[in-house]
Amino acid sequence: MKINGKPTRTIWPSADNQAVEIIDQTKLPHQFVVLSLKTLAEAAQSIKDMWVRGAPLIGATAAYGFALAARATPDDDGLKAAYKILHATRPTAINLKWALDRCLAYALPLPVDQRAQGLWALAAEIADEDVAINSAIGDHGLALIRELWDGKKTFNILTHCNAGWLATVDWGTAIAPIYKAFDASIPVHVWVDETRPRNQGASLTARELNWHGVPHTVIADNTGGHLMQHGMVDLVIVGTDRTTRDGDVCNKIGTYLKALAAFDNKVPFTVALPSPTIDWTVADGVKEIPIEQRDAKEQTHMVGKTKDGAMVEVQVTPDGSPVANYGFDVTPARLITWLITERGRCAASAQGLKELFPESQ
Ligand code: MRU
Repeated sequence: MKINGKPTRTIWPSADNQAVEIIDQTKLPHQFVVLSLKTLAEAAQSIKDMWVRGAPLIGATAAYGFALAARATPDDDGLKAAYKILHATRPTAINLKWALDRCLAYALPLPVDQRAQGLWALAAEIADEDVAINSAIGDHGLALIRELWDGKKTFNILTHCNAGWLATVDWGTAIAPIYKAFDASIPVHVWVDETRPRNQGASLTARELNWHGVPHTVIADNTGGHLMQHGMVDLVIVGTDRTTRDGDVCNKIGTYLKALAAFDNKVPFTVALPSPTIDWTVADGVKEIPIEQRDAKEQTHMVGKTKDGAMVEVQVTPDGSPVANYGFDVTPARLITWLITERGRCAASAQGLKELFPESQ
């Protein structure tokens, strides 16, 4: 997507190919800071500390991190150790494992002196594939919006967390259909859940919709049910960090509550799903997907901008109150109207996924 007219991705190789560059998303929306990752340790930290985040971008960053590791320790033991370090950074988004499995399987049969170069090219390929997948999801999602839109009134879409281009290499998953609808002159308006505790909606989704000029309104996380009861939401679209072969969707904490409200109000609830986010080894999302629990500080503190532009951190809970910080929840398939993949739309079910991805069974 473009920032002030300049096409920009979230991750790209440096001009001399010595590093991979990323946008530090912890500084958005107020500051635009680019960081250079030169080592495995830096790449692992960028995922763990959420300088980059969003399932597809985590996968692409892991691929580049693995390629950086291969420059220092290209032997089998070195690569397996790098796999472990990167894999341990975040437990829920399956794209991380998907990318690492692909990189390791590619590298091990190669002569040791060819691994680093080959892996660098593979990381670029994974990044490019992500862009193509998300663009295709955007096309299928646009077709759905065209079907649901009455041709006249503003079409209101609610989204949770950030599943836009900042969560991927480019385009985004849930937001790709919105960009394509906006570009096709459909009058879309987006309700943006702030998405506590890290505020990916308020700080990232709002930021990117703002860059593209898409009309949107940031709402407190608990507002969606009220809006749906009053006919103010035509469609919910969210992303996913892991989808099971039976169609259960694990996404940012709070997604499940939006799905319940959508179900009760007969608002279509859709999930934009790139195929690398499907975990074919898992059927029951509630029982089988590991849910990340993060530092209490994400809940107890908030960062923001003061009137004079300085960034400050403030504490919002009383000293000593215990905190639980679950990062994700699982929305059962029965609450999901459609999954939108790069191959088209399907029911959130084993049968629906099987029809679109027969080779993966
Ligand atoms: O904790 P985050 O910010 O990595 O969580 C991101 C999400 O939950 C997204 O909705 C998901 O990764 C899909 S991104 C296209």
